[in-house]
Parts: sequence; structure tokens; C-alpha cells
Amino acid sequence: MAIDPLPTPPPEAKPGSGNLVPKPSGPNKLFARPDQKFGDFRDDILRDGYAVVKGAVPRARAESYAESMWTYLETFKNGGRGLGFRRDDPPTSPVINEKGMCSGYGVNHEDFAWSIRQEPGVVDAFAQVFDTDDLLVSFDAVNMALPGRKDLPANRPWPHQDQDPARPGFRCLQGIVNLLPNGPDDGGLIVCRGAHLVSEKFHREFAAHEKDPVFRWTPEWYGFSEAGLKWLEGQRDGQGKCEWVKFECEPGDLLVWDSRTPHYNLSPQGDRARFAMYTCYMPAADASQADLVRKKAAFEQTLGTTHWPNAVHVRDHNAPLKRQDGTTCPYSADNSPTRPVRLTERGFKLTGIPYIAAATT
Ligand SMILES: [Fe+2]
Repeated sequence: MAIDPLPTPPPEAKPGSGNLVPKPSGPNKLFARPDQKFGDFRDDILRDGYAVVKGAVPRARAESYAESMWTYLETFKNGGRGLGFRRDDPPTSPVINEKGMCSGYGVNHEDFAWSIRQEPGVVDAFAQVFDTDDLLVSFDAVNMALPGRKDLPANRPWPHQDQDPARPGFRCLQGIVNLLPNGPDDGGLIVCRGAHLVSEKFHREFAAHEKDPVFRWTPEWYGFSEAGLKWLEGQRDGQGKCEWVKFECEPGDLLVWDSRTPHYNLSPQGDRARFAMYTCYMPAADASQADLVRKKAAFEQTLGTTHWPNAVHVRDHNAPLKRQDGTTCPYSADNSPTRPVRLTERGFKLTGIPYIAAATT
């Protein structure tokens, strides 16, 4: 099957040279008005707090990205010879945690990671949501959840929101590009339908008085305790109860959810892996110059971030990548992707670098 190539990379561009001024969100930004109706996936986000954009990436290309991930695991470091990868033998692969996440080694900047971030159908979905083409993208982790792992305890649910309860309202849309067939037993994302609409009420009426809250590693995160989940259970979102829904999707589908929507992921239970790429975008105009400078440094050092595209959190490259047995991966400090990053013109904009004012560089 023919695979459409992505546009060729642009000639080298210099940070700050263009002094590009990002266009801020327009009047059709999601949640900007209470009477919005779009006739597409955006209506699902408004109502449910999440949506599936079917075929955002052409299936053949999604499958080729999954294949690149297998190759990555098989040829990981060791001069490209790999460590003898076997899917049930974690020491032969990079460190992948019980949630399937791999971050470090510059994996966030591998060819497949950037190719997925630059997929037109993915970027355009976020451009529609924010009503601007001038976006930043996160340098988030890759998910390579392997089935049958015996070295890890079972992945326990950690239902959470990914934004600060003290800053309510729609601030962030998170995304995952799914790369392998993902059915009921294949793990993946699970979300609490409609709970974005009761988030503010939850924090005002319940969480503000919570006796035993879950530890928050950053203000931009909130974890639900058992009591918090019970509170949610009793809520109605206009259609019925706020219910937990597991996504089922095909290679190339883009899953998006409002960061206020409680969510977590499940491990594969069968014999199929779950491969996915986290892709989160926000208007470049919403980032400060300090954010952009921090993001540029992360890009140049091929470091990862969390889902926040304005690089709220950047991975500490000195933090060792530990295996489950407590040993440090021998390649923990090697933060170089297999090849230097190649970007399309739009991809370069997504780094935020062209929006850095010349005086700041
Ligand atoms: Fe999350």
C-alpha cells in the first residue's frame, strides 16, 4: 500500500529570526460560548469531555509508525544492535513503566514521534479546537505497553485530572494517537464521561474539604481518592450518570480529552501490545516568552516534557532511569535519539522556537 510521504523538511530556520507573532485563539475556541455547535467531534468534547477523531492518521502510516516502534525496541542503543529485545524480558528494552510509558533516551524526539506530531490530521484537529493554526506541541512520552510483563506489579488505576483545580475552566486538550488495533482486552485509555462538566462543583463541594487527598506531585494534577470517586459516581452530566468508558479504536485514530475529564490507562490483558503517542497542542499565543525559551532548551537537548505544550515540566536528564529491580539502565544518561530531529515547516513552528522574540534569544 502506498504511504503518502510527509513534506520534506524546510531549510534550516534560525530561532527568533522571523519574530513570528502567533495568532491567538479566535471566537470559535471550544467552550468560548455556551451555545456552540460544530457538527463534528468538537460537539462530543463539549458534551462528553472526550472524542475520537477516526482516521486522523492514514491507517498505513499509523501502522508504519508502530513498526518503527518495534524497530526502536529491537535496535535500542548498543550501536543500533539492540539488547536482544524480547517483549517478555524488560532488561532487553528501554525502561518502560507499568503504565506503558517510555520517556528519556531522547525517545520523545525519535523520527516516529515527530512524524506523528506533524501529521496534518492530528494538528488540524487541535487547530479547530483552539481556532488558531499557531500551536505548540508537547514533547510527551511514547506509550509502548507490552503484554505479558512479569517484572512489574499490575498497573493500578490512578484516576486523575491533568490540570490545577485552582484554575478551572477549559485550559487543555490532551491527545493520543493510537497505533495498533485496540479492543476491550488491549488496554488503553479510560475516561469518566461528562465529568468535565462537574469538575468545578467537585472541587468546590468535595475536594476543598477532602480529609485524605492523594499526593499531588505538581499543582497541575489532581488524583481522585476512593471518596472522590464515590462523589463522582452520584453525579449526572445531563445524559445520565458520569460513567467510565474505555476507548476502542483502530490504528490512526486520534483520542482527545479535556484535561478536566478524569482518566487513566489500562494494561493489555491479552497478547497484543498497545502502542500510542501522546500528542497535546496549545495556542502558541498562550505561552510566555520564558515558556518558549525553556521549551527551546528542552528541544535542543532532546528532553521530554509532560503533556503541557508550554513545557511546564521538563524531564531532568540527570534523573536515573530505574528498572523494576532497582538497577539503573546502562543507557540512562544517553539522551540522544537515533537520528537528529527532522522537521517540516509546521513542525518547526510547533517547537515554539520561531515565536521567540529576537531580543530573548
Ligand atoms: Fe493524565
